[in-house]
Amino acid sequence: MRLTVIGTGYVGTVHAACMADLGHEVLGVDIDAERIASLSAGRPPIHETGLEEILTRTMALGRLRFSSSLAEGAAFATTHFVCVGTPQRPDSKAADLRFVNAVVDGLAPHLRPGSLIVGKSTVPVGTAARLGRRLAATGTDCEVAWNPEFLREGSAVQDTMCPERLVVGVSSERADTVLRTVYGPMLQAGIPYFSTDPATAELVKVAANSFLATKISFINAMSEVCEAAGADASLLAGAVGADSRIGPQFLEPGLGFGGSCFPKDIRAFAARAEELGAGAAVAFLYEVDRINTRQRRRTVDLARRILGGTVADRHIGVLGAAFKPGSDDVRDSPALAVAQALRDGGAAVRVHDPEALDNARSAHPDLAYALDVPKACEDADLVLHLTAWPEYRHLDPADLATVTRQPLLLDARNVLDEPTWQAAGWTVHALGRAKAPATGLVRGEPS
Ligand code: UDX
Repeated sequence: MRLTVIGTGYVGTVHAACMADLGHEVLGVDIDAERIASLSAGRPPIHETGLEEILTRTMALGRLRFSSSLAEGAAFATTHFVCVGTPQRPDSKAADLRFVNAVVDGLAPHLRPGSLIVGKSTVPVGTAARLGRRLAATGTDCEVAWNPEFLREGSAVQDTMCPERLVVGVSSERADTVLRTVYGPMLQAGIPYFSTDPATAELVKVAANSFLATKISFINAMSEVCEAAGADASLLAGAVGADSRIGPQFLEPGLGFGGSCFPKDIRAFAARAEELGAGAAVAFLYEVDRINTRQRRRTVDLARRILGGTVADRHIGVLGAAFKPGSDDVRDSPALAVAQALRDGGAAVRVHDPEALDNARSAHPDLAYALDVPKACEDADLVLHLTAWPEYRHLDPADLATVTRQPLLLDARNVLDEPTWQAAGWTVHALGRAKAPATGLVRGEPS
């Protein structure tokens, strides 16, 4: 089948490459001519395991190419996936739909009869219906369907090739048949396929993200109570998550979520529900957002308390800049928000990250950066673990203690092996444990 994929960001580049790998003939379209030139040379705009190989392979087979012309895209195929961004609007919590609207308006005059536009972007419920009416007003018989994307950064290729489910929102049998053909090999492999109306499909995406964000903020709220009560949030999470109805995933107490999806999606969902008169039903999402933001503040406060009441003129080594391990993305990164707040409080902060240093440097130019962990922690009064990269779990705490000014660690992700660090002489602090006094509480000692 011939497909166009419009928007070559995270979702679009991965979708285009994976659809070509499934056997389709794909044209990727983007208005950014520089990005198209680099993709055409086989260079993906993002770091994602396996992506470059698939791009190179499918381009060599002639199944994937790129263009900056929407008209060429409209002529190339009758199925068009829309993968452009829907950022938060600068003036409100709602989603900014200008890019989605521009793609549909740009395609409309060039569409071949019977074409299907399939949205993958995360949008407010009702968007497919609205775009369908917009198209119909131009007199075409073309349709709009919605097919939300659930891929996670860091495992985007794997999530796209072997998704846990496919969800399509369609208004006709014809659209359903087209999408069943697109995903034919996956359906044959037994991947569950949920065919719904467009509004339900749009809501599945935001409901799933809201549930996961709520789970994270739930355990972080428990972690605040643990801290006040002298209990241990990690032990609590393990025991609560052992209930198979709850499960351990997304139940890790720590610095909370960031990235390009969860924060903006839950805000946009709450804003849309308010427009629909159902705001009260999801008002809890504002609390989920507040709990999440509070974790960043609590981490900064704990660092301050550990250092005796002020971070001014203290050296702080920061481990992690990406919003999560396995990604070079620093958008709304909790780690960088904490590092910046410490810097703003007068600390000398030096940040390490295995993948995200370039992006971090552009987003936070006034922070200092280090290419390796010892350099980041040199002369540090405190080391902060803020992004749970696996390599940080394998650090040698005894080695690291030789470069710091004092062996003080704040593990804001609750994953470093505390006994190992303590055995090497470190005092270890974490969120969700008994409150630290002004200086140096070792876990387990009463304050
Ligand atoms: C998320 C959704 O998982 C995905 O389905 C959707 O399409 C896009 O948004 P992503 O943003 O790539 O994907 O990251 P994910 O792995 O889901 O993690 C989101 C955030 O939650 C990260 O900042 C992560 O560090 C944080 N997180 C995750 C926690 O703070 N605690 C946890 O227990 C799990």
